[in-house]
Amino acid sequence: MSPSWPLPENDPWSTPFAQLLMHHLELHPGDTVLDIAAGGGIPAFHMAECVGPEGRVLAVDIHQAQVLRAKSVQGPHLPWLQFEVGDMRFLPPTLSPVNRITGNLSFMFFRPNRFEALKNLLRFLKPGGQIVLTFPSLGTFDSLWNYVGEEMQRRGLLKEREALNEYLQERPSSDHARQWLQELGLDRVEVTEWPLEIFTGPGQEFLQHPLLRGGFLDDIYECFEDQKLAHEFMADVSQNIDCFTPLFAQRCAMSGFLPV
Ligand SMILES: C[S@@+](CC[C@H](N)C(=O)[O-])C[C@H]1O[C@@H](n2cnc3c(N)ncnc32)[C@H](O)[C@@H]1O
Repeated sequence: MSPSWPLPENDPWSTPFAQLLMHHLELHPGDTVLDIAAGGGIPAFHMAECVGPEGRVLAVDIHQAQVLRAKSVQGPHLPWLQFEVGDMRFLPPTLSPVNRITGNLSFMFFRPNRFEALKNLLRFLKPGGQIVLTFPSLGTFDSLWNYVGEEMQRRGLLKEREALNEYLQERPSSDHARQWLQELGLDRVEVTEWPLEIFTGPGQEFLQHPLLRGGFLDDIYECFEDQKLAHEFMADVSQNIDCFTPLFAQRCAMSGFLPV
């Protein structure tokens, strides 16, 4: 029988990351799961179906609007799945420990101190439990960043170039992920990267691309104090997509088990 709560096929970003997360996650009926940065419920709904009524999934997101949206999709279904508002970096110490912690497209939001945030989160994992987080790792859209950096340089936009460099240096890599999991004493550490090609046309299709606009392009705009200049710059960039396509993201999953 096919699942009633599969990962949505029409989601070009969350689903490919969630597929990698599910590839690593060892999930069984009756498991208890804390899903952080749960958003609209990818993959919380699917995991809730996997653990069944004997299990439990607590799905936490910092934005109330996301939680309300997920609850409205849920309706009366899967009552052992609970969506709650919360900051994954400051979860209440009274929260019951679980045997799985997951976070699809989460690790990039562990700022400013990713190691500390990861360490704090592990307090909620039972001995023998598994943590699996995914994020777009270093290398994601490098062809775009290289082109944008060169263009800034060519146009003498030095402050903007510096801001871009600062942003780029702050991104987490798969090596960081492995190192931190090992430093925290986890067993069976696995860190995997799968490439994902993102397709776009020029002009408005690029500038308003639902995936790029929502995060990555905004990061470029934020490098500019003068937003009019940013718009002119990005309009030019959007006409030259041949200079930075194909555009690849790196899907990264980090997984480990807390020793028994
Ligand atoms: C890219 S979305 C991923 C949502 C979902 N897991 C998915 O794969 O579709 C990232 C989510 O992280 C949430 N978020 C960001 N910072 C957070 C924090 N400190 N604590 C909890 N959620 C956070 C955002 O509100 C957003 O819904």
